[in-house]
Amino acid sequence: MAENPEQVLSEYEQLKDELNQHNHRYYVQDDPSVPDSEYDRLMRRLQEIEQQFPELVSDDSPSQRVGGEALQSFTQVTHAVAMLSLENAFNEEELEAFDKRIKDRLNLKDDQQIEYACEPKLDGVAVSLLYKDGLLVRGATRGDGKVGEDITANVRTINSIPLKLSGQGIPKLLEVRGEIYLPRAGFDKINASAIAAGDKAFVNPRNAAAGSLRQLDSKITASRPLEMCAYSVGQFKGGTTPDSHLNMLAALGEWGFKINRYVEPVEGVKACESYYDRMQERRDQLPYDIDGIVYKVNDLKLQQRLGFVAKAPRWAIARKFPAQEEMTVLQDVEFQVGRTGAITPVAKLKPVFVGGVTVSNATLHNGDEIQRLGVRIGDTVIIRRAGDVIPQVAKVVLEKRPADARPIVFPESCPVCQSPVRRVEGEAVARCSGGLFCAAQSKQAIKHFASRKAMDIDGLGDKLVDLLVDEGLIYSVADLYELGVDKIAGLERMGDKSAKNLIESIENSKQTSLAKFLFSLGIREVGEATAQTLAKNFGSLESITGADQDALLEVDDVGPVVAYYIRDFFRNPDNLSIISALREFGVCWDDIDITAQDSQPLKGQTWVLTGAMEIMSRAEAKDKLQDLGAKVAGSVSAKTTQVVAGPGAGSKLNKAQTLDIPVLDEQQFVRFLADL
Ligand code: IVH
Repeated sequence: MAENPEQVLSEYEQLKDELNQHNHRYYVQDDPSVPDSEYDRLMRRLQEIEQQFPELVSDDSPSQRVGGEALQSFTQVTHAVAMLSLENAFNEEELEAFDKRIKDRLNLKDDQQIEYACEPKLDGVAVSLLYKDGLLVRGATRGDGKVGEDITANVRTINSIPLKLSGQGIPKLLEVRGEIYLPRAGFDKINASAIAAGDKAFVNPRNAAAGSLRQLDSKITASRPLEMCAYSVGQFKGGTTPDSHLNMLAALGEWGFKINRYVEPVEGVKACESYYDRMQERRDQLPYDIDGIVYKVNDLKLQQRLGFVAKAPRWAIARKFPAQEEMTVLQDVEFQVGRTGAITPVAKLKPVFVGGVTVSNATLHNGDEIQRLGVRIGDTVIIRRAGDVIPQVAKVVLEKRPADARPIVFPESCPVCQSPVRRVEGEAVARCSGGLFCAAQSKQAIKHFASRKAMDIDGLGDKLVDLLVDEGLIYSVADLYELGVDKIAGLERMGDKSAKNLIESIENSKQTSLAKFLFSLGIREVGEATAQTLAKNFGSLESITGADQDALLEVDDVGPVVAYYIRDFFRNPDNLSIISALREFGVCWDDIDITAQDSQPLKGQTWVLTGAMEIMSRAEAKDKLQDLGAKVAGSVSAKTTQVVAGPGAGSKLNKAQTLDIPVLDEQQFVRFLADL
């Protein structure tokens, strides 16, 4: 059908606006206004029009974010306003000296305070973005501060960078500066695919962001989930400049840029220090890396009076956090055996202070990882500890390899029980084949069995389990029920009273539920939730042990792999004899009447618990909801039926509110349960 060009043009302009707005809600505000399917529909229509009328395609079209033709080389760009760097403060004294210098220069009295804007120092790559009449015309790297490289094609692919500014008071010429960075989840994703493709992994998100921006082929940049936050302005012409740095950021926010949500004004240097402490506590939970805090004098007139020295402004300083990467020497590799027999190589390091703690062990994951890193004993390595608690070996510093560096040999027999080590074709993990005969595996199995969410044996901690197994007092979980006070009272650091208490809690653990018992068996891939579902669906242990593959597959959440592990577990005669011993010793539970379950009033619902609970414990609330048929999830999504929010609830509550999901406080929740 021939279309009226005028109508098409107006539809095209409207589509561009609409898509740019959705894009802004999704990538800048983290608050999508329409489902992905609607976005895709609009985008398809836009592309359809662009195909039909190629002359319409403009640089601010959202279709241009996918990347275009590869470049031969980058052209150089001279910054009209130099891109400065920041002075660093490594401790409170240096920060206080900075504050004093400023006050002296401005002739302020000791008790007069400067207002500072505090901002996280994002660990990425600085960028300059030039907008003429509100349209993005150039993106450039910092380079040496005076001359950088033109990366316009690459920055256009970054969704949180507006191609066209929106809102009021847009200056004729605006140069926005900010940081392009890769959130940790994106870093893990691109590293996983690099490894899968046999390529080298990036050491950290900053290198990955820099590498992604340095691509001559912008399609590669487009495939990397980069983000950009604005933190200052270079050239600014043909508009009214705000009076403070924070008002400038607010204006940038209005015009479509992402501004870091933790940016905050404070009075005086003491408040800067407490901001630093607060952000340092938050650091590990942030979805992106930050390497410190930037403090800026908020008043732009004062900034002007303070001016610059050499390469840095006098009105700003960066206070660095402890480094998340350090170099140290890998002195040895130990092989640890886990509950399922998985053998994990652990790097024994010369102790090193990294990410705020002293680290002497780092995981090497598995044999493939050792190969990928090409690491040897004696090598100098880069250790990275960021966000998560397990430190990683990120890279080998080959230049520092000593002549006597030794290759790491993966053991062929289990270091604990000497049974052969097996590696299933296609799996990365090598396992000890000794099963519960292996002391390492039986210790882990007993620890799991005794843990709070399993049989909940109070007082039976990890150290005690190690001791009981090492002393030959127990071999399997069933042996726990044969322990008497006399047997354990003589153990190291075990008085009569604690011995009595322990035996009492072992006794108390006998009365349990089918779900907890199933979970406590430590069947691979059967976590708490799967154990619950199995219990509810089958009602008795006999029905589960007798279930065939098809019956198991009928259960929600049970796929072929889980079904295989369940059947494998119950086919093993050792496991069956442990179970019958446990029952003989009095471990018992009430079977569940599975015919009565249709009356479960919350069946099909998904609940989320967040914040503190004061009337009942979170575990109790979860048990109750699950008994009533609800699923209890860890995060809020459009599928959530109901949220229970206690004091201190944060992002989950916010999300529930934006998604219009009903929220109960704890009192209302208790009443709701009582009324059912
Ligand atoms: S302001 C003249 N603010 O840190 C002021 N920089 O060490 C220039 N950075 O090159 C920078 N987060 O890449 C500023 N909130 C922030 C920042 C930040 C990260 C980077 C930036 C700069 C480097 C200076």
